[in-house]
Amino acid sequence: MNIVLIAGARPNFMKIAPIARALDKAVEAGEVFQYKIVHTGQHYDPKLSQIFFDELNIPKPDINLEVGSGSHAQQSAEIIVKFENYLQGKAVDLVIVVGDVNSTLACTIVAKKMGIKVAHVEGGIRSFDLSMPEEINRMVTDSISDYFFTTSEVANENLMKIGVEKEGRIFFVGNTMIDTLIANEPRFKEPVFFQTEQITSGEYFLLTIHRPFNADDPQKLEKILRMISEASDDRKIVFPAHPRTRNTLSNIQLPKNIIMAEPLGYLHFLYCVKHARAVVTDSGGIQEETTYLKIPCLTLRNNTERPETASIGTNILIKDDLDSIKGHIQNILAGSWKKGNIPPLWDGKTSGRIVEHLLELRTEIENP
Ligand code: UD1
Repeated sequence: MNIVLIAGARPNFMKIAPIARALDKAVEAGEVFQYKIVHTGQHYDPKLSQIFFDELNIPKPDINLEVGSGSHAQQSAEIIVKFENYLQGKAVDLVIVVGDVNSTLACTIVAKKMGIKVAHVEGGIRSFDLSMPEEINRMVTDSISDYFFTTSEVANENLMKIGVEKEGRIFFVGNTMIDTLIANEPRFKEPVFFQTEQITSGEYFLLTIHRPFNADDPQKLEKILRMISEASDDRKIVFPAHPRTRNTLSNIQLPKNIIMAEPLGYLHFLYCVKHARAVVTDSGGIQEETTYLKIPCLTLRNNTERPETASIGTNILIKDDLDSIKGHIQNILAGSWKKGNIPPLWDGKTSGRIVEHLLELRTEIENP
């Protein structure tokens, strides 16, 4: 069995790291198969890409397709052309894609058109908001993938609603991102600027913003920063800014308790999450990480494809009501926030379960 594991953008790297490790373990245990990693190059800044390979010990990719930035059409089209070239003449049996980025969509389309089976890790999640490119990526990927490794029962139901048979195709295994979190928690490390900026554990807020609907609108961005700053009672707000957000920020006067930083590596970033009073974000993965770590999370979005982080975990959606940020932060400071629980199977063993299922399916995977 020949497997190709795809990664393209920052949130993919922490999802493939434990899968690669579980595949390596199966080989060490005597299972006979090969796997290679393909990096599409969707993210190329060292701080958005290479640092995760180094910190999480991800094996060197067989190739980097070096597609870089562009419109969604340009980026996806370039991945499609380059990934098809890569696969030509190779006997690949299975392509594993993770998450919902453009690389996930593009590589799924190529593999399926070449008659190669596709497994989608984190399949089935839905925001039902087609204004988000990620939702389109999820819908297309799930409509043609063969196997689905899911993070929640809600995801299983979403897949069954679009006609995917549960038996033999949908496998509720848990969350590979949480595998990475659990494996690396002892290695989380304090960023150097915590000393220079006198940031105290448990006292600061952590902010991340990168979605176009927040990051590209200077007025909205300015209001978000002001709301958090005013409510935080002079506590520090650590804000590692994505390149896209940094562009918009160049025209905004930052409130003085906002500590802007470069994008952080995994070990520094997760340290910031674990020791924050609360996190304010528009990310998908951070909703899951805060739920696991039981840190209050305010999500700057109208919806979430990860509803269990709100129904079981510590997350709430701010929706369009930016003014409500203040009240929520006051509740957090008063200590009256829901405690939250960890969703089922977010136990650090997800990647092992994925590999077990793949080995059970190998006859079917090898014989299209
Ligand atoms: C992508 C994913 C998003 C994910 C996010 C995490 C899609 C549709 N979006 O969004 O789901 O949550 O990654 O970061 O796949 N840029 C750099 N350096 C880089 C990469 C990007 O400076 O290494 C800048 C470029 O100006 C680029 C912009 O960021 O135009 C956006 O990058 P892009 O890859 O299009 O999407 P993200 O916003 O990063």
